[in-house]
Amino acid sequence: MAVKILGTGSFLPEKRVTNDDLAQVMDTSDEWISSRTGIRARHISVEETTSSMAVKAAKIALEDAKIAPEELDHIFVATLSADHATPSTACQVQKGIGAENAVCMDLNAACSGFIFGLQTALAYAKAGMGKKMMIIGVETLSKLMDWKDRSTCVLFGDGAGCAIVEADETRKVMIDAGSKGNMGDVLTCEERHLNNLLVKDDSPMQQVAMNGQAVFKFAVRIIPKSIHKVLEAAEVSEEEIKYFVLHQANRRIIEAAAKRLKEPIEKFPINLDQCANTSSATVPILLDEMNKKGMLEPGDKIVLCGFGGGLTWGSVYLEW
Ligand code: ACO
Repeated sequence: MAVKILGTGSFLPEKRVTNDDLAQVMDTSDEWISSRTGIRARHISVEETTSSMAVKAAKIALEDAKIAPEELDHIFVATLSADHATPSTACQVQKGIGAENAVCMDLNAACSGFIFGLQTALAYAKAGMGKKMMIIGVETLSKLMDWKDRSTCVLFGDGAGCAIVEADETRKVMIDAGSKGNMGDVLTCEERHLNNLLVKDDSPMQQVAMNGQAVFKFAVRIIPKSIHKVLEAAEVSEEEIKYFVLHQANRRIIEAAAKRLKEPIEKFPINLDQCANTSSATVPILLDEMNKKGMLEPGDKIVLCGFGGGLTWGSVYLEW
């Protein structure tokens, strides 16, 4: 049993902030940001929340998939920036789209979140537990940024992406995933700290902090390794892959991965120049963009790959 993608959707906040806009409020420049990362702009929430963006992306995906919300049996939402600890973002999406028959839960694997969500859906399909499932990657990272840390805050953006899958016996899907908790310190963001009737701690909460060079080294090593694994398992060569849809963290990471895979950069679609890094949302936003541009034909072989906080990584080989 495998899965096929029935439809995709995405949503970006209306407010677009360019590198030049950032240079007005902090000591940075378009030249510094774009030459090191490829990023030129990002979308930042003003009124949108994590759940409102997820609902908008979900509605667009339902239209694209041409199914009714009641047909969904599961909603998996990958996020590290939920509006609430409870109810989950997935339950809020259920309410927002009227998917009354769905079982809903959130999962957090940082930038690998959408890939892990897709792999969860595949596992449910294989176990006979899920037939039509929605997977969303959504982040409001702007609320987790230290806006005084110019080395980190310029890299990220807000947004949501969604895919709806259906259990399918005719398609082939292969996965690889892994985690390295002992390297977790290189990319962190603290949740609420202990503050109760026994412990008083009113110190401010830590925002996103990152050792950029350590993340860079990890990413360029793990992407080709993980992609080779799924392709070997699928018995498909790199040349047969139409697109490698990678997590959009940094253009130089994608270029290094393309070089190591010995594949032309044209097979690695990029939208980080306009969206920056939206963590779990990058892959489904890009996939939706490709779908809407008509870049994918039935039967096309593609690889999705995510990597990030945890540290975590995952790849999925699938047939469109
Ligand atoms: N504007 C101008 N100058 C800056 C900025 C900025 N926004 N940020 C940092 N600098 C300065 C630093 O202060 C430093 O100055 P100094 O030499 O006078 O001390 C100098 O630029 C170099 O700083 P570094 O942090 O060493 O810059 P580096 O060349 O390593 O580039 C970057 C940083 C772009 C983050 C790089 O490490 C990288 O691409 N890392 C990959 C990590 C990544 O993309 N993470 C995304 C999140 S994780 C994920 O999604 C998987």
